[in-house]
Amino acid sequence: MRVVPVRIEKLIYTFRPADLGPELDAYRRVLQILDNQTPTRHFRDGLPVSADWLDAVGLAEIEEYIRAHRERAAIDYGALLNFLCFDQAYFFRNFFKCLVGVRCLAAAINLSGSERHIIDIGCGAGTFALAAYLLWNRWDEYILVDKELAQLCYAKKLFEAVEVKNVKFLHADGLSLISRRGFRIASYWLCGNKNALINATDEMLHGLLRDGCGIIDYAENVDAFMSRVQAIVGPNRIRRIEANTFPPDEIAKAIRSARVNVHLLAIDPIQD
Ligand SMILES: C[S@@+](CC[C@H](N)C(=O)[O-])C[C@H]1O[C@@H](n2cnc3c(N)ncnc32)[C@H](O)[C@@H]1O
Repeated sequence: MRVVPVRIEKLIYTFRPADLGPELDAYRRVLQILDNQTPTRHFRDGLPVSADWLDAVGLAEIEEYIRAHRERAAIDYGALLNFLCFDQAYFFRNFFKCLVGVRCLAAAINLSGSERHIIDIGCGAGTFALAAYLLWNRWDEYILVDKELAQLCYAKKLFEAVEVKNVKFLHADGLSLISRRGFRIASYWLCGNKNALINATDEMLHGLLRDGCGIIDYAENVDAFMSRVQAIVGPNRIRRIEANTFPPDEIAKAIRSARVNVHLLAIDPIQD
C-alpha cells in the first residue's frame, strides 16, 4: 500500500498599513476609550500595586517577570499581579494581534451558521472578543469563558466601556463545556498553559472542534496543536495561517515592534 502524505493547506498573508483600514480604526477607537492606557491602568480596580509602583519598576523588568513565568508550565492568571504585568507589557501588542487574527479567521473559515454562537475559551480580559466585536459582529450570542474570575471582571469592564451588550460571561473550565454548541475561539489560551493540550482528552477536544474553531497563538503552540487537531478532524478541515504584519509607526512604537507575526489554525465544523 502506498501512503500518500497529506498536507495541511497553509495561507500566508502580508499586511502593510494601507491594507489595515478597519483594524486601524478599531485600534484607535479602543485607545481613545481607554485614554491611551492599558485596561488595568484605565480601570484600576482591585489592583495589588499602585500606578507609582508600575512606573518605578519599568517595562523591562515587567517583561522579564512574564518571560520567567512563561517558561514554567502555566501562568496563574488568577494572581492579579501576573495579569497586571501581562496587561502592562502586552495589551497593545495583544490587541493589535487579535485584530489581525480576526481578519484572518473571518477570511479563512468555511462557516455553517455555527458562527452565530461563539464560545471564547480562556477569554482572559476579553481582548480577542473585543477585536471580534469591532470587526466581525455577526453573532446571536458570544460567550466569554474563563476559569479565573478576575479576568472575567476585567473583560466585563472593557465591554461596558465600549458599550457592547450582546455578550455573556461564564466562569467555567472551557474544556468541560463539551455538549454546548458553538464555534470556539481559543486566543493565546495555550501560551501560558502548555499542559492544557497534554491534559485534554479526545472527547474534550472533539467538543472544542466539532462546531469549528479558531486558534490563535504563538507559532510553536499552533504547530504543536495541529497534529492533535488533525487526528480528530482530518487534514482537509484545517488551514494553517501566518500573517506577517507591518503596522504604521504610531502602533509600531506603542507595541515596540515594527513587524508582528500572527499564527492561527482555522478549523471548519465537523459535519454530524
Ligand atoms: C494568555 S490569557 C489569553 C486571554 C485572551 N484570550 C487574549 O487573547 O487576550 C489565557 C487565559 O486562559 C485562561 N484559561 C486557561 N485554561 C482555561 C480553561 N481550561 N478554561 C477556561 N479558561 C482557561 C486563563 O485563566 C487566562 O485568562
